[in-house]
Amino acid sequence: MTDHPVRWGILGTGGIASAFAADLRLTDSGAAVAVGSRSQESADRFADAFGIARRHASYEQLAADPDVDVIYVATPHPMHHGNAILALRAGKHVLIEKPFTMNAAEARDIVKVARERGLFAMEAMWTRFLPHVAVIRDWLAQGALGDIVTVIADHGQWFAEDPASRLFAPELGGGALLDLGVYPVSFASMVLGPPSRIVSMSDPAFTGVDAQTSMLFGYDSGAQSVLTCTLRAKGPTRAAIVGTDARIEVEGDFYAPVAVTLLPRNGDPVRVEPAHDGRGLRHQADEVARRLAAGDTESPLMPLDETISIMETIDTVLAQARKNT
Ligand SMILES: NC(=O)c1ccc[n+]([C@@H]2O[C@H](COP(=O)([O-])OP(=O)(O)OC[C@H]3O[C@@H](n4cnc5c(N)ncnc54)[C@H](OP(=O)(O)O)[C@@H]3O)[C@@H](O)[C@H]2O)c1
Repeated sequence: MTDHPVRWGILGTGGIASAFAADLRLTDSGAAVAVGSRSQESADRFADAFGIARRHASYEQLAADPDVDVIYVATPHPMHHGNAILALRAGKHVLIEKPFTMNAAEARDIVKVARERGLFAMEAMWTRFLPHVAVIRDWLAQGALGDIVTVIADHGQWFAEDPASRLFAPELGGGALLDLGVYPVSFASMVLGPPSRIVSMSDPAFTGVDAQTSMLFGYDSGAQSVLTCTLRAKGPTRAAIVGTDARIEVEGDFYAPVAVTLLPRNGDPVRVEPAHDGRGLRHQADEVARRLAAGDTESPLMPLDETISIMETIDTVLAQARKNT
């Protein structure tokens, strides 16, 4: 599909758009060539900061830019669906920030439009593409753990209680689960697939969105996942995958570039600390470039059907939160 470095168009000029544009400078697989913002001023400021030539004062203009291959959707979650559909209808491939959408219905719609048009689409669940997660996947594929019994993952961060903050504002998709909990949910999904039973408990923030959510997932194999997220406190942000023959422990923030250790029931631990540079966002960009060069319309590392299934799980957890509060 592309025989040149990927020409990225950045849609939105906020925090993660800046982090992604900075990490794109660390790879030769592509470069930011255009940015689109709701205002010319923001587009110019962002373009100046990252040396981007083409700066558009609307998302529509960015989508119509003939020199853009892929649009990176970096707006608040409620806008992902509309922004992604705009880009796809303009014939652009899309990389969409996590959570992919607000719910599974929106995710299905994006996937349908992308597939109808033969365009590439992927959730920017950047953790999936990190070198330490590749090590985890190798250990799992080798059967190093025996039967998997438990997945444990936590994502707690402290945020000031600001009603205007995207994290707390319902109209901006606020809440712990969609912003933070999607990481443990996705991690468990990568290891064990979709759960067959879901039990969860949420506590609301002052704006009504979930401030804290804890989840128990059950699988037909008998395995279980124990997952937590909160906007109220910095948690350990650790993860472990526990099997009958060994366990994997992820050091530090499990969703960021860190070390992983395989601890066999009998035998010495094996610790791997892959080299990395930047914030860890370049790896998803490299994956997009690889897939486009191969003519693929999705990534086997973050398949679209799995993204939909993750949103279905999140729908169920949020429905339980609404019922119980
Ligand atoms: N992968 C990660 O590590 C990571 C980290 C943080 C966030 N995220 C995800 O990235 C997305 C954006 O998060 P962020 O922290 O970058 O948000 P942010 O700093 O608030 O930036 C969001 C950008 O979206 C645009 N936007 C469009 N409609 C908007 C509206 N009604 N209100 C506010 N902004 C609007 C704005 O750009 P213009 O004004 O230029 O149009 C704004 O700068 C979220 O879905 C979040 O979950 C991912």
